[in-house]
Amino acid sequence: MPTSGPINSNESDEHYQHPAVLNFSQILSSLSYALDLTSGYSMGHAQRTCLIGVRLARELQLSEQQITDLYFALLLKDSGCSSNAARMYEIFGGDDIESKRLSRVTDWNNLAECVRYVVARSLPKGSFLERAKKMVDVAAHGSGNTDELSETRCNRGAQIALSLGMGKESADCIASLEERWDGTGSPNHLSREQIPLLSRVAALAQNLEVFSCTFDRNTAYEIINKRSGRWFDPEMVRASTAFQSDSQFWDDLKSSPERALLALDCRAAVQDATDDRIDAVCNAFAEIVDAKSPFTGAHSFRVCRYSVEIAQYMNITGNRLVTLRRASLLHDIGKLGVPNTILDKPGKLEPDEWAAIKKHPYYSAQILGKIDGFSRISAIAGAHHERLDGKGYFQGLSAEQLDLDMRIVAVADVFDALSAKRPYRDAMPLERVFEIIDKDADIALDAECIHAIKAVTAPRQPNGQASLAA
Ligand SMILES: [Fe+2]
Ligand SMILES: [Fe+2]
Repeated sequence: MPTSGPINSNESDEHYQHPAVLNFSQILSSLSYALDLTSGYSMGHAQRTCLIGVRLARELQLSEQQITDLYFALLLKDSGCSSNAARMYEIFGGDDIESKRLSRVTDWNNLAECVRYVVARSLPKGSFLERAKKMVDVAAHGSGNTDELSETRCNRGAQIALSLGMGKESADCIASLEERWDGTGSPNHLSREQIPLLSRVAALAQNLEVFSCTFDRNTAYEIINKRSGRWFDPEMVRASTAFQSDSQFWDDLKSSPERALLALDCRAAVQDATDDRIDAVCNAFAEIVDAKSPFTGAHSFRVCRYSVEIAQYMNITGNRLVTLRRASLLHDIGKLGVPNTILDKPGKLEPDEWAAIKKHPYYSAQILGKIDGFSRISAIAGAHHERLDGKGYFQGLSAEQLDLDMRIVAVADVFDALSAKRPYRDAMPLERVFEIIDKDADIALDAECIHAIKAVTAPRQPNGQASLAA
């Protein structure tokens, strides 16, 4: 019988002592990698955009409060991106992440570029006829689709910023990020000074980052100069030229944006992360993950609930329980890197699609592992698809390498996958769920954890249905 790993339920709480004070900005800055993944940006995009935005704000002599609001808005600007991923897939029928990546470098005021985008992104794997029908449909609903996608993304992003305690200025900055100086942006077609000042700074910073990474610095400046007065406030474009030749700034931006961001001499870079703030961040990112696909619903919150209940049944308390709760909320954060063509696919997955799915716990571990003080959270989240018989993924860990906390989240995850109501099927009766799980007891899943989930779910479900409440 597989033995429990190195950490068992009666071990002291010492392993779970958090560092005295975590840096709130470092937590958000690291989690922004997950937002880059789901938005089709290159890794570090949000951090680099934040650096450019703060530099631009200094050139414009904005106040310290405005810089703080801008700093957090730029790290969180894509937190609404997962909310329109399923819709993006529905509209174009192709990989939502690639569609988003290409849309950043497309000039939507240029007809030839628009046509090229629609041709490339409409049902790329369909037949000629299917693709032609999709292109006509996309073209017919062009600006309506753009407004809808943009509204979902920006409004959701603004709500998330508010839920994390950011000011109204930060939320407004995100909400109007896609507006254009000439009124051709979305979703509200604001123009000139109707667009909040911080949104105008953020829009330029975001695009300068994308163009300088896609092409090079000078080409990026050529593009933004050409779009001055159309996409961008001319005053922002003028101010940004002040640091075009600052090679040290651009080198730091490319080599280590995370370090450069934390080294910034500004109030935003040195904010402490209280327990309440960390919990708010974990809840917000669990929502971002769950919003990615209608197939996941409130999966992260249910896995959290089951993990905590199993742990409490096993007398796990204190910081250890706090760590387990946060790890279970964030266990699927790596799914933000999986396109909805795969996540929402109703049929059987092809081998390459299955390989993409198997990468998500790796991404979870990598993203969470970047946060100081989150090493246990990263280890637990990264192991949620591992199995006692070594047949899990992505590491193929053995029973001896899987500690109790990892086993708890693995059982909670499987239990929810089987018991939750899905868009394509009703909730499975609890009896049937346990029939399936019992076959894996001490082969793939920990028998004691299975016993615990039975004990905590049975009393509240007299009709034999699994609870769906988060
Ligand atoms: Fe997963
Ligand atoms: Fe999961």
